[in-house]
Amino acid sequence: MVFKEIIYILKKAKFISVLSGAGISAESGIPTFRGEDGLWKKYRAEELATPQAFERDPVLVWEWYNWRREIIGKAQPNQGHITLAKWESLYPNFWVITQNIDGLHRRAGSKNIVELHGNIWKVRCTREGTIKENTEIPLKELPPKCENCGGFLRPHVVWFGESLDRNDMEKAEEIAISSDVMFVIGTSAVVYPAASLPFLTKRNGGLIVEINLAETPLTSYADFFFKGRSGEILPQLDSELNG
Ligand code: OAD
Repeated sequence: MVFKEIIYILKKAKFISVLSGAGISAESGIPTFRGEDGLWKKYRAEELATPQAFERDPVLVWEWYNWRREIIGKAQPNQGHITLAKWESLYPNFWVITQNIDGLHRRAGSKNIVELHGNIWKVRCTREGTIKENTEIPLKELPPKCENCGGFLRPHVVWFGESLDRNDMEKAEEIAISSDVMFVIGTSAVVYPAASLPFLTKRNGGLIVEINLAETPLTSYADFFFKGRSGEILPQLDSELNG
């Protein structure tokens, strides 16, 4: 792969950001949503990750999250996450905006992170709105209940049809606007508002660098498209940049 031009740009860039999706964690063994392995018991994410699904059948939705917690709990950050954590220590302004709820960017060492869709290791009381960390795998009582009021707990994640946390979205937009370069890594770029962020970067004069196994609706707008696994391409880029 020829990285010469992008290396030149990255060496001059003052503000770099990343928008990541499920693909960056695929090499850690976590199934993506829209890939072939993305179905659980024949359900698509859109059928389970909704407030309506939880209202209808909270046990089913929690069974799905239990399954995902087991997989994520065993997963380790891969070379993609690790390279991005390294870059944060090299660039004064480096941010990761992630749609992933697996927490692997943080475990790899990144600190400047916006978790746009929440975190699977947090639960929220549906009655009181209180948020707590919960790393039990698997959760034994389904649905789990609030210690304080007995209300159902739900995963502290954003579901389809729900708004993103306002502070998180504002921060993500500010990052997108400020970016000289935004890497868009392992996302199908179809879920909004996250998918709007690269366009914000581009409108403000920044460049989009996409890394994905396949083309997406964003690819024709991207300034650079590197086709392949992020866990391989990011370390290759790093060795040319810092090697
Ligand atoms: P998707 O499953 O829609 O897309 C994963 C993307 O990663 C695809 O474009 C793949 O081609 C690509 N991919 C897979 N393996 C890769 C690898 N090793 N290296 C690089 N790219 C790879 O996941 P997201 O785009 O993250 O939202 O999905 C967005 C949102 O929809 C999720 O956050 C979730 C989901 O349903 C909610 O639950 C609200």
